Amino acid sequence: MSPTAVRLVEVGARDGLQNEAHTLPPEARAELIRRLAAAGLRHIEAGAFVSPRWVPQMAGTDAVLAALPARDDLTLSVLVPNERGMAMAIESGCREVAVFTAASEAFNRRNINCSIEESLARFEPVMAMAKEKGIAVRGYVSCVLGCPYDGPIPVADVVATASRLYQMGCYEISLGDTIGAGVPSAVRDLVAACAMAMPVARLAAHFHDTWGMAVANCVAALEGGIRVFDSSVSGLGGCPYSPGATGNVATEDLIYLFEGMGLDTGADLEGVIHAGDFADRQLGRETASRVARAWRAR
Ligand code: HMG
Ligand code: MG
Repeated sequence: MSPTAVRLVEVGARDGLQNEAHTLPPEARAELIRRLAAAGLRHIEAGAFVSPRWVPQMAGTDAVLAALPARDDLTLSVLVPNERGMAMAIESGCREVAVFTAASEAFNRRNINCSIEESLARFEPVMAMAKEKGIAVRGYVSCVLGCPYDGPIPVADVVATASRLYQMGCYEISLGDTIGAGVPSAVRDLVAACAMAMPVARLAAHFHDTWGMAVANCVAALEGGIRVFDSSVSGLGGCPYSPGATGNVATEDLIYLFEGMGLDTGADLEGVIHAGDFADRQLGRETASRVARAWRAR
């Protein structure tokens, strides 16, 4: 990546839609991904091979992928929690997957029903399957700046989990502020600590905007050396059980931010705004992107 570029990982069709009360059918999810790709986004999470009992919104991820012919210039990745999910990803022809765990025991148990150590043990065979098939694996650490159950999380716990994922062979570790509770000074400390344990080029920032801090936190991560940012078109997401909760930082907001700072995102702001309009119409919601709102009002 050039020193004047950042890489955006679009997670709206996964992290966003998994948290929307209304479930979109696979064809609508595939159409959203087509529109995001047409707007220049080159790394898109297409879904998750997880239990449909746990996350019904991600059922039919195989059909989403089947509707999207493979392209050399587009990475479509999926979340897998275990060997079963990895087998489904291989069956669907995925070239990239993401494994996910947390820096908090309580969150991990509620999310994937096992301890952090057990989750890492489950990833060993997943990594072996990926290696055999030449599939790239990204790793997520949730609750890096606070946990809804355990409260504050020591930085050392985040570094320990992130390091394990890195040593296991994940090519990139995405640091997730799952509850959007962090502030820039905490981001700075976290990134500095993680960068002592692995190259900063292997880190990504994954910030939710629940407390309105996500854009500021992305700037702090950028200043700490991170150049890969996860975001969700239209700020899709939230939680049906938690009024007021919001999704990931909006992709439109990051494009405006980074392009304004002279950093190339490769994405077309107007195209992404239109893709967000499509998702919002399907879901019957208003955009959560401040930039999309300002763009429309100009
Ligand atoms: P479990 O109940 O402990 O496991 O769930 P199990 O082995 O007993 O399986 C339960 C059922 O799921 C069984 O079916 C299995 O066959 C099935 P049933 O007998 O009930 O009909 N099953 C599967 N089905 C499809 N795909 C699979 C799979 N594995 C088992 N891969 C399990 C354990 C991990 C499966 C479950 O807890 C689960 O699916 N959790 C997913 C939770 C999830 O997707 N959370 C959201 C993603 S993480 C996130 O959003 C954070 C992130 O954005 C970063 C951040 O913001 O922090 C990444
Ligand atoms: Mg997330």
